[in-house]
This record gives sequence, structure tokens and C-alpha cells, in this order.
Amino acid sequence: MAFPQNFIMELKSRANLVDLISSVTELKRAGSNLVGRCPFHNERTGSFTVFNSSDPSAAHYYCFGCGEGGDAITFVMKTENLDYPAAVEALANRVGMKVPEERRFGEKKLDRARLYELNAAAARFFHETLIGEKGKIGLDYLMNKRGLSMGVIRHFGLGFAPQSWNELTDAMKKKGFTEDELVSVFLAGRKGERVFDMFRGRVMFPIIDLSGHIIAFGGRVMDNSTPKYLNSSDTAVFKKRMNLYALNFAKSTTRDALIFCEGYMDVIALHRAGFTNAVATLGTAITPEQARLVRRYVKKVYLCYDSDDAGQRATAKAIELLEAADVQVRVITVKGAKDPDEFITKFGADAFEKLLADADGHIEYAFRKLARDFNLDVPEERLRFARAACEMLCGNFSALEREVYLSRLAELTKIDLAVLRNQLSSILKGRERAVKKREQTQVLQKLSGYGDRVNPDRQKYPAAAIIEEQILGILFLHPEFLADAQVAGVLSAETFLCAVHSRAFAAMKDVYAQSDLLDIALLSAVLSPEEVSLIMGAKLLREKLTDNSKAVLLDLVGRLGELKDKETAPSGDLAADIEKIRQRKLKKERQ
Ligand code: CTP
Ligand code: MN
Repeated sequence: MAFPQNFIMELKSRANLVDLISSVTELKRAGSNLVGRCPFHNERTGSFTVFNSSDPSAAHYYCFGCGEGGDAITFVMKTENLDYPAAVEALANRVGMKVPEERRFGEKKLDRARLYELNAAAARFFHETLIGEKGKIGLDYLMNKRGLSMGVIRHFGLGFAPQSWNELTDAMKKKGFTEDELVSVFLAGRKGERVFDMFRGRVMFPIIDLSGHIIAFGGRVMDNSTPKYLNSSDTAVFKKRMNLYALNFAKSTTRDALIFCEGYMDVIALHRAGFTNAVATLGTAITPEQARLVRRYVKKVYLCYDSDDAGQRATAKAIELLEAADVQVRVITVKGAKDPDEFITKFGADAFEKLLADADGHIEYAFRKLARDFNLDVPEERLRFARAACEMLCGNFSALEREVYLSRLAELTKIDLAVLRNQLSSILKGRERAVKKREQTQVLQKLSGYGDRVNPDRQKYPAAAIIEEQILGILFLHPEFLADAQVAGVLSAETFLCAVHSRAFAAMKDVYAQSDLLDIALLSAVLSPEEVSLIMGAKLLREKLTDNSKAVLLDLVGRLGELKDKETAPSGDLAADIEKIRQRKLKKERQ
């Protein structure tokens, strides 16, 4: 059961796709459309296009680089990792529209909301346990061993899971939650018929998403037993690679940067000390999704990982991913402590503030370090140093920083500033070209079906795949052909060789039959965002061509039929095969 069509159309027109996308990537006008850098893949060039329309509900986007496309609803599905009903609801909340009643109690929506409710109820249970009789050891650990105040404990919603196999489970069942629901959010495990509490004898850290829902938990033991931390694995409401601990607080920071550290306790220590811009990657290496997520809020990140080997490896990986997402990176090294938590306890907040300032000066430091390798009294070496320094400045620095350090370099090398500027810009241009080329290669690989996950049949039927896309494109532009008797006589879901095209066609036909309209939002209800993107790409391909008539469509269907004959392997029946070839020849002659 879908949402009423007029509701969806109004929702889309109120949601304003351009505003939605502008909050994530900067858009520039290009004719009647807008272009920008794609929020779905890392790119330097702007392949991402927003097609504006006088009818705001018809606005849509497509990336010519990665082939991601859709409308306001698919955009929310993708960027916030929601399914169709949840995305519709999220958008409706944002623009102040009420989701129609009969739908609000639809199965899927209820599930998700209930899982949030269950997590919230569990967090309350853990917190009340912590401050109650049974939580004494937990509270003692947090306050006396880790030095947290009651205010901080409340702010982060910390709790305590009792050393018991069933207390949480029983309490939640009393509130009406089912065992299946408990297991599905990782609060309980199942062994045979029995269900047991997953977190036992641990202090609890709830993980909160950007809308304020509790989506997962981390729990720490209070001694040296293992595992030290137990974390929720991915569930229907938690995708580890898409979230950052404490980003719900840090997103409203007034500072111009975020601080990345490894653990829950580091984040809490930093927030307490006034660094409310700290987040943690939850013990895993940073992901491309997280890098793009932070780029929505800040242009700069301080990396403050543990000083051990693992921490340093994580730093290298993070620099690579953040720079690819166009985030400036500064590295903080905590000296005399193993992590930021310990550093602040030992040396205080002012000392940490100084670490931040020193990190900003790291270009200066790197300059000096680089200069040591050259004898600046020798003109040739001065030149080589200048070149190496320019290479270094091509990293992710702001234009202002580049200017400042170019002047320093001019002093050091006694080379004219203008010459250095030229040198720098030619290196930058060269890199830009290399990036463009890499992006183009990726597009070409995509077109040739290499690694095409949406259409795995493309490699098997490359020629048919192209024709089928043309057919889908024309049908999207002219959905009335879907109801045309002559077309229906030759074209059905079975006509398509690629399974994904067959599915897309069936969905298009159904949607059009039901609504007399073919809209991205209506298709998104039955197809995956990737499949919708595919149809959009097909449509754009045809839109550029002038003739999208029924005759062209029928011709394409005919060509697909011929290809299909060829694709079918010889039957082994010689007479039948000869007949097939003869028919094909006859058909050609008639044309
Ligand atoms: N972590 C984890 N599982 C483990 C160990 C660590 O998920 N077995 C994650 C946690 O998110 C933890 C982070 O990695 O916060 C950093 O680990 P570590 O440096 O060992 O812990 P600290 O945050 O320093 O915790 P504490 O100070 O409480 O020892
Ligand atoms: Mn620690």
C-alpha cells in the first residue's frame, strides 16, 4: 500500500530539493540547472546535476559520474540511510506535513519507530539502574575511577547493565516489547529457545543519531576482563560505518573544526573540558561515509588518535579519506599520555588547546623539517627545496594558508613570490588533470559494465543492455506508451534480457496502471534507489535525442528481439536453427 499520490507530490514540492541538496554540497547555476560535486562519491569535478523545474515536485538529480539519481525522497533515503516509508516520514516531519492516517500504522513505519522506542526504554532502564541500588559499582567506577560528575553522566545518558541474564529482557517485555524486537536491536541474544541479556555487568554508553534517536549501545567492563567494550552490531536502525559517537552534540559546535578520537571516554573527557566538537569513530577505522558526513558540518578535522601503532595507522587512513572528501586535516600528537582522555586528566584543558594551536602550525614545522634535507646556500638545492615545498602545499590547505607559506618560502629561498605562485599552480593543475582522468576512467569502466552491481547481466548481454536502457528511457519520457495496445503486443517484462530491466519495466507498468502517472517517488516505493537511478540515467540519455516517438520505441523493441534470437544458443535441432536464420534474413530484406 503506497502513500496517496497527491500527498507525495505536495511533500516533494514543499521539501524543495535544491535546499535539501545545498545543505550537503555546494551547487552552482548552470543554465536552468544546478551543478555541484556529487555527495555520493568522491570527486573533484562537478558531475552532479540538479534538474530544476517550474513544478517543484518534478525536481530531480542525477550524477553523470556515479549514476546516482532520484528525487527529494530518494535523496533522503540515500543520505540518511532510511527505507522508503521512513524517508517519507522524515521529510514530512521536516516540512511540517502530517503523514496520512491509514499509512501511519503501516507495518514498516511502526517497526522502525518501535525499535527507537525500545532503545530509549532500555537506555532509561540502564540509567535508572546506574543511579539505583544495583548500580553502585557502576556509579563508583564512573565517578571515582573515571572522574565523571553526575552532570556529565546525565548529559551523555550513561547507564549500567546489571550482572544478570534477564533483567533488561524482563523489564522490556513488561513494557510490551517482544523477544524478537529485543534480539533485532542487539539488546538480547538467543540460545535455542531462551533469550538472554546481551550486556551484563557493564557501564553503558548510548549512541545517538542526528535526529536524537538512540540507535545503539557500547558497554565497558569495569575490570580487565575481555572484551573491554561490547558494541551493538549493525541493526535495522544502526549502521556503524555511517555514524559517529557524539556527533549529535558536536554538530552544533561553534568551533570551525571537529576533533576525531578513538573512544567513548576520550570524547567524554574532551566535552567535559570544553571541547564539545569531539567525536569518536567507535574503535573502527574511519569510513568514506563518515568523511563525507563530517564535510557537511566542518571544513577541518583534528585527528587525535591514540599514540600506539594502531592509532598511527588509523591516522594515516583517516588523512587519506578526509582529504578525498575535501576536509583539511591537522594531526595532534598527545605526548606523555596514551590518549586524549589521559592527556586532559594529566595536563588539563589549556594544554590541549595548545596542542590544537600547534597542530595548525604544523606546516611551519614540516617546512623546517623539509628544509633540513637541503643546503639552502646552494642555488640548485634552494630550487629543489622550493619545488618540494610547493608539492607539500598542494595538500589540503586553504588558499590563505598557501599564500602565507608561499611568502615564507620566498623569504627562505630568495625566489620571487610570483615564480613560486606559478610553480604551485602548475602542480595543482597537473594534479587536477590526473584526478579528472581517474574519474573519467571510472565512468568508462561503469559504462562498459565493469563491476556493474546494479545490472550484473550487462557483461553477458552488453548490446541488449544498451537497447533495453533506451526502451526504458523512452517509456519514462512517454509513459502513455505503456498503455498502448500495439506496444503491449510486442513488449512485456519477459522481453528484457537483463533481470534488472525486466523488474524496472514491470514496476513502471504497475505504477502507471495504478496512478496514470510515472513519478520517481512512486517508483521508489517499489524499486531500490539504485534501480531508480538506472531508470533516470536511461531517461536522461533519451531526453537529449529529439525523436522519442512510438516508432522509435517499436524499432528498438524489434532490434532487441533480433539480438535475443542471436543470444539464444543453437538448439541442437539443425532444421529449427536454419529456419531461424532464414527468418532473420527475410526480416532484414523487408526493412
Ligand atoms: N573498542 C571496542 N572494543 C574493544 C576495545 C575498544 O569497540 N574491545 C573501541 C571503543 O569504542 C573504545 C575505542 O575503541 O572507546 C578505543 O579503545 P581503547 O583505547 O582501548 O579504549 P578507551 O576509549 O581508551 O577506553 P578506556 O579509557 O575506558 O580504557
Ligand atoms: Mn582511554
